[in-house]
Order: sequence, then C-alpha cells, then structure tokens
Amino acid sequence: MNSFQPKILRFDSLPSTNTEAARQAQEGAAEGLCVVAREQTAGRGRLQRRWLSPAGAGLYFSIVLRPRVDASLWSLMPLLAALAVHEALVESCAVETDIKWPNDILFGERKLCGILAETVDTESGRAVVTGIGINLSVAALPPELQEVATSVEVITGIAPDAEAVLQALLRVLARRYETFQTDAGSGEIICEWSARSSYSYGKRVRVGNGTETCEGVTRGLEPDGALRVETDLGEIKVVRAGDVTTVRPSAAPV
Ligand code: BTN
Repeated sequence: MNSFQPKILRFDSLPSTNTEAARQAQEGAAEGLCVVAREQTAGRGRLQRRWLSPAGAGLYFSIVLRPRVDASLWSLMPLLAALAVHEALVESCAVETDIKWPNDILFGERKLCGILAETVDTESGRAVVTGIGINLSVAALPPELQEVATSVEVITGIAPDAEAVLQALLRVLARRYETFQTDAGSGEIICEWSARSSYSYGKRVRVGNGTETCEGVTRGLEPDGALRVETDLGEIKVVRAGDVTTVRPSAAPV
C-alpha cells in the first residue's frame, strides 16, 4: 500500500491552513500531515483571491503530500482532490455536486468548495500542499456572495458536522491517492473526473488567465489535466491555468 498516514493538527484560528502546512512541510513534516482550523483570518484562494473562513462555518483543511509519480503529473493533484471532495460530500452529506475545471465544486452554478494546491520545496524534496475549503453552514457566506456561492446547510437544511466531513474526505483522499500512484492511476483520475464534471466535454466556456481570454467548447482533458477548448475556428487550445465561466448561447434572432 502506497498511501498516506494522516496526522491531524487542529487549530482554533490560523491565518491560512495552507501557509501553516507549507511551513511545517519545510520543517520536515511527513506526508499526511493535515492542518485543520475552525477559522482562517487570511484564507487564500486561487488567482490571489481571498477565501472567507468564519469560525465554525466551514471545513478549512490542508494536507501535505509527496506523490511518487512523474513531476509532469503533479498537476493532477487538484483534480484528484476535487474528485475526493465530490465523493466525500455524497457519502457524508448526500449532496451530489458538479466539478468545474480544474477544481471548483459547484452545486447548481454556485460554488460550494474551493481547492488550492501549492508546491513547496523542502529538504526532503518537493511537496504539494492541498488546501480545501468547504462551506458547511449558512454563516460561511456574507449576503453579497449568496448569489454565486452556497453551503451544505443551504442545500440540505442541515449544517453537517465538520469532523464527519473531514473523516469521509480523508478516507476517500487516501484511496484515490493510492490509486494515483499506480501505473494506470493518472488515467483513472482523468477518466473519473471527466465522468463527474459537466465541464469536461461539450460545454461552451470562456477561459481567462488575466492576460488572455479564449472562448469555445470543451473537448476533454490532456493526460496532465489541462483543459482542451475548441474555438469557433476549429482550433484546439490547451488551457493549463485560468478561470472558466459558462457562456450561455445567445438567443436566435427572430
Ligand atoms: C479557490 O477556490 O480559490 C480556492 C480556495 C481554497 C480555500 C482553502 S481553505 C483551506 C486552505 N487554506 C487556505 O488559505 N486556502 C485553502
């Protein structure tokens, strides 16, 4: 068996569980170190965004991993984490979600969970810190975000116990991580991610990375998890970083 042994460190409040996990990885923490906080005062999101993390309203969690796979496949870690969150939410809350490339967990069009994977160089080699934030109760979201984001409580009427969600997540993560490190593992991640994401194939999207924007229809994933988008000129663009938004077809002229 080639998975991790979780060691959980719990904090009442931290600036960011990712920052703390990266610090501990640099100090030699073993694979499987998990940092959990009831509150984050400077939670970080992708593309330099903030992640609001009020006390007791969400699961704010980061794990240190050192995957034994080719470096070109480490980019699959965020997709693996998204798959694990998807499965853990079914198991612990009976909530069926969608996955927006690369790793946003959506319910309807609203964001329920975000994932931030960051690599850190340590004395014992490179590690990846994967941070997961799941909105559990209504209190996770200020009124101005309620149009674009949601929580398990809004969906089911019940705010789940963060500990139960964490335990389900660790179980699924460990299983997925073990498979990832087998010969067929990366193909399985791509295949299963694609089966659970409405964004994998045939969705009209706009993708922006801050400097460039492209629009087209999704055409599956590359072996390293990059998104293939076919433009209206029939060209396939391979997107490795960026923000995806759905484009609604414009109404036909009458
Ligand atoms: C995103 O969708 O932009 C990613 C959000 C990731 C938030 C989580 S909460 C736990 C961990 N600590 C952080 O500072 N960020 C991640």
